[in-house]
Amino acid sequence: MKLLSIFGFRATLACDTEDIYSLAFAVLPAFTALADSMCAVLEVSKCDAKRLDFYSCLTTKTLTLFDTFDKWDPTERLKEFSAEENDFRKTFSVVLSELEFRFLNPGDDGVKLAYRRLDFKPREGETYPRLRALKRILPETGGNRLNKRLVDDLRTIIRVENKATSKQLDILEILDEALKLLNSLQQMDAESDSTCPRNFSNYPSRNLRTFTKKLFDAIQRNWCCHCAGCPSHVSRKARLNLTHHRQFETAPTNGKPNLIGSALFRVLFPTNNSRDLEWQDTEISLKNQHHGKAERREHNLCGIIQGVKSGIRPRMAIVEQNLWQLHADADLLSPSQFRDSEFVSLKHLLQLRPGSNESPLTSVRQEDRLVLSFILTTSLLHFIRGPWLEAGFSSENICFLVSHSQPSVDITKPYLTASCAALRRVEPSQDLNMPHLYPDILSLGIILLEIARGVIVDIVESDDRCCIALKYMEKWTKICETDRSGGVPSGLHQAISACLDPNHFRDTVLDQESVVDYEVRKYIFERILYPLEDALLEAHQIQLSTLHDYIGWVKETSGVGSFDHQDEIQSEKQLVANEWYGYLEGVHNLVFECKERCERVSKEAQKAARVKVAILDTGLKLPVPLQANYEDEERINVHQSETFAPQAKGAIHGWRVDDDGHGSRVSQIILEFAPLADLHIAKIFTTKDDLANPNMATQIHMRVAKAINRATNEWKVDMIVMCFGFDSPIRLIRDAMDEAAKAKKPPLFFAATRNDGAHKPMAWPARDRSVIGISATDGDGKASSFNPLDKDIDPVFYAFGEGVPVKVATPNDPDAIITEYVSGTSYATPVAAALAANLLGCVRMVVATSSPEDQVIYNHILADLQRLDGMLAILKHRMRMKHNDGTESLLPWNFLKVELLNDNKILEDIAETLKKG
Ligand SMILES: *[C@@H]1O[C@H](CO)[C@@H](O)[C@H](O)[C@H]1NC(C)=O
Ligand SMILES: [Zn+2]
Repeated sequence: MKLLSIFGFRATLACDTEDIYSLAFAVLPAFTALADSMCAVLEVSKCDAKRLDFYSCLTTKTLTLFDTFDKWDPTERLKEFSAEENDFRKTFSVVLSELEFRFLNPGDDGVKLAYRRLDFKPREGETYPRLRALKRILPETGGNRLNKRLVDDLRTIIRVENKATSKQLDILEILDEALKLLNSLQQMDAESDSTCPRNFSNYPSRNLRTFTKKLFDAIQRNWCCHCAGCPSHVSRKARLNLTHHRQFETAPTNGKPNLIGSALFRVLFPTNNSRDLEWQDTEISLKNQHHGKAERREHNLCGIIQGVKSGIRPRMAIVEQNLWQLHADADLLSPSQFRDSEFVSLKHLLQLRPGSNESPLTSVRQEDRLVLSFILTTSLLHFIRGPWLEAGFSSENICFLVSHSQPSVDITKPYLTASCAALRRVEPSQDLNMPHLYPDILSLGIILLEIARGVIVDIVESDDRCCIALKYMEKWTKICETDRSGGVPSGLHQAISACLDPNHFRDTVLDQESVVDYEVRKYIFERILYPLEDALLEAHQIQLSTLHDYIGWVKETSGVGSFDHQDEIQSEKQLVANEWYGYLEGVHNLVFECKERCERVSKEAQKAARVKVAILDTGLKLPVPLQANYEDEERINVHQSETFAPQAKGAIHGWRVDDDGHGSRVSQIILEFAPLADLHIAKIFTTKDDLANPNMATQIHMRVAKAINRATNEWKVDMIVMCFGFDSPIRLIRDAMDEAAKAKKPPLFFAATRNDGAHKPMAWPARDRSVIGISATDGDGKASSFNPLDKDIDPVFYAFGEGVPVKVATPNDPDAIITEYVSGTSYATPVAAALAANLLGCVRMVVATSSPEDQVIYNHILADLQRLDGMLAILKHRMRMKHNDGTESLLPWNFLKVELLNDNKILEDIAETLKKG
């Protein structure tokens, strides 16, 4: 190599490939930023075209090099001791040496000061001491966005131009050489021959592997106790939290840096201070530099984890192989010490219960099992051929915490038990005669199969694991096809098969004598992980971006929901319905009178008087002309409506699609009955079946919670209407409503009381104290026979819900509008919400158009009515009438009428009622 002989005399070859790569990768952005800032200066002065040229070349080249490294990490792809690796090390040693020489000595004061300001401290005895010092002071993530002050300081200590004019262009030549080499090395990369649409070289977590290795090394090096009486200390056992702080996305998401820059781990260590084995939770971060108070270097990990006070989770940082103890705050919310008996292994969950053909895992939901499979696969991707999986993957070294408050185990939070003792370093046997070349992948396949079946796969030591597992798989697939579950999701089948079946390896490079780790991991990524991602989405509509939320959430054991609907064909019901509708005209007269008065005030004030209502349902699709009208009039807020149901492949989604019709009917009732209400559509399920599907329950809860959050905090709605319910309270939704109650303007909740099927207990959330539950009556005010059993739950109101007229499209013409009559508490609920919206809107308009004195006197009404107790008082005392069957229902004909506008009588009445409460 020519260049080496000329410039490379001081280049050290002592560093390994990984070191060279990570150093270059870390410091290149600083040089790009420097060169770029020089360009900016020179462009202004316009007198030195040659230098400008030099710096713009330098900017491009360093950037290209960085980008290439970002996508192409050589450390796993270059075979150790190969000629290619050697070339790489030589070439990049030259690059690093050239960059290292560009630093100025702290001889003059300006440089010295900048050294100090930057905390720039080269260390003796290191290779490339200045570059390493630079790496330590650069921000950990998003390397190419350095702030201006940092760049200015760096300009003081680094002079990119060589003083000797003859050597000025050397740096460009060296970079060229490096780029050329990288290009040629990249060509060796076998093109992907799989159909996977994801690209492993863009996988954001692909470098987590390096961090996991460093974590292991540091634990091993710094755990040097002699607790002879404690077997778990002798064997250096540790439990790694496999979900904490992991990024699960398989493709880069906008705005996030491609590679992860630092890592945070949760590791549980055994303590030896009691007779029962206990585990101490700790947090360990890996970073380039350490900062923060109360930290000290520690050599003995054992000391950190012993006798920790309850509620304290020790924090540590690993900085360049050393362990630092950081200040730990008390975390009173989640426990940080666990008895050994609080853990249960996957193996245990897979054992058949005596005398039954079911295991504890059989009753765990499919979606949770698939999530676990996905997490374990990501773990293999990070750990394969690394120290954490020294003992191989098995159902024995995966465990879960059992929570006292929950009857079933949450399997979406797995822990991996490993021994951090010195490694035995068994090289993987690459016996090409073995049916299966990758025992770790085979082990994963067996676990995935076990999780899917719910039962352990029995393999005796002398058996060929691969053959037995394949036989089990065949049988299981067959049985699944015939039972009611509708077969195995194709992604899951593909994934397990890619693990177990040696034939899959034959058509890839993995079937060769020696394979670099990169290829193995790429195989896992493309053929096992991606199909599982696909299965999560296809079978359970779980997106990776929400996986963390999913894992974090408390999962209900049942939690399916329902809504009611009935077509009303009895003509006498329709007749009284029309009568009710006739009365509504009185309310509308009031509304129009208010609107007319409001013409006087500003457009903004008119807009502010309108009532915003969020409908959480199946979407909104009205007859085309009707929908167009409403959208034009902005009665439907097209900018602040959203679908929370993810897009299944091939299906058209969006809140404008309603495959059920329920959401459209509910929405149309409000649009028609409450001229002052504007709608925000939140589509949270596609059909009634979604809501009743136990496999989607957690998903649905999650979406409802999200929609409540969005409607409250972003759309800032006045009311949220939920015409569905669950058998029991759902913690997730409960939390979301509690959260909403704390908002600046908390919404009023309306919900339908009936769970599908008459004479059942009242559904939740309708029966919740913070929700206005609505049961149904016919047009006369007579309670409907289909209302739920409970009568005395508060607050529950009755509203017109039998034979409610709605406008829908005819089945074969989306433009033609017909009126349909429908029944159910689902339809009584929007009727009640519409009446409340009319009240709220009218009052706002009346106040806005009142005399200044009246505005002062009645201003409080606005806020009071927005509160649950205020609204309840008016609904109760002003808007109800009694039917002769005893039912008091919302029939506000004597209250919401135009006559009450005289002298602001309506405001007076409301104020009086609110006072009495
Ligand atoms: C492990 O990580 C999950 C996900 O972040 C977290 O919910 C759980 O509390 C962690 N477990 C422990 C014992 O820290
Ligand atoms: Zn010890």
